[in-house]
Amino acid sequence: MNLYGTLIVLHLLGASIWVGGHLVLACSVLPKALRTRDAGAVRRYEEGYERVGIPALIVQVITGIWLSHIKLPDPSLWFDFSNPVGRLIGIKLILLAATVGLAIDARFRIIPKLSDENLVSLAWHIVPVTLVAVLFLIVGASFRIGWMY
Ligand code: HEM
Repeated sequence: MNLYGTLIVLHLLGASIWVGGHLVLACSVLPKALRTRDAGAVRRYEEGYERVGIPALIVQVITGIWLSHIKLPDPSLWFDFSNPVGRLIGIKLILLAATVGLAIDARFRIIPKLSDENLVSLAWHIVPVTLVAVLFLIVGASFRIGWMY
């Protein structure tokens, strides 16, 4: 397999883990935890998921930047919204900043104080991170299907 093929396969593998893991959390684990007021259920899922989820996100960033270099070698064009490829790369980098910001806020502000009573505050993080994950995937697919060109 050539380098480009390898990067795409790794990028899709990371995307499956990141998007799939968050959809399971947002659509299955979280609603049940909110119904039963069981913050421990979310914590247990997050502890197990973190071990594959964080490496997956790191893989996404490395392969994503690499693929961006292949598609548009000049990084100064990565936020050029008049360029169709630059626009998609720029949107992906903004989504990445939003993901990192939400993750830092959850890790250092919400999770240390997490209890059965304030589980809703974590839900306000899980839902946007999941929506951003799905947007990542749609913007990624747009390179091929041209939705945002
Ligand atoms: C969790 C985060 C991410 C997800 C879920 C994701 C998902 C995807 C998906 C599903 C594709 C389509 C691949 C294909 O056409 O076969 C894609 C393509 C792409 N992604 Fe991402 N991505 C993520 C993060 C990033 C980041 C941080 C960057 C860096 C700017 C990036 C840059 C790209 C590029 C340049 C392509 C086009 C590849 C090509 O067609 O040559 N991605 N992404």
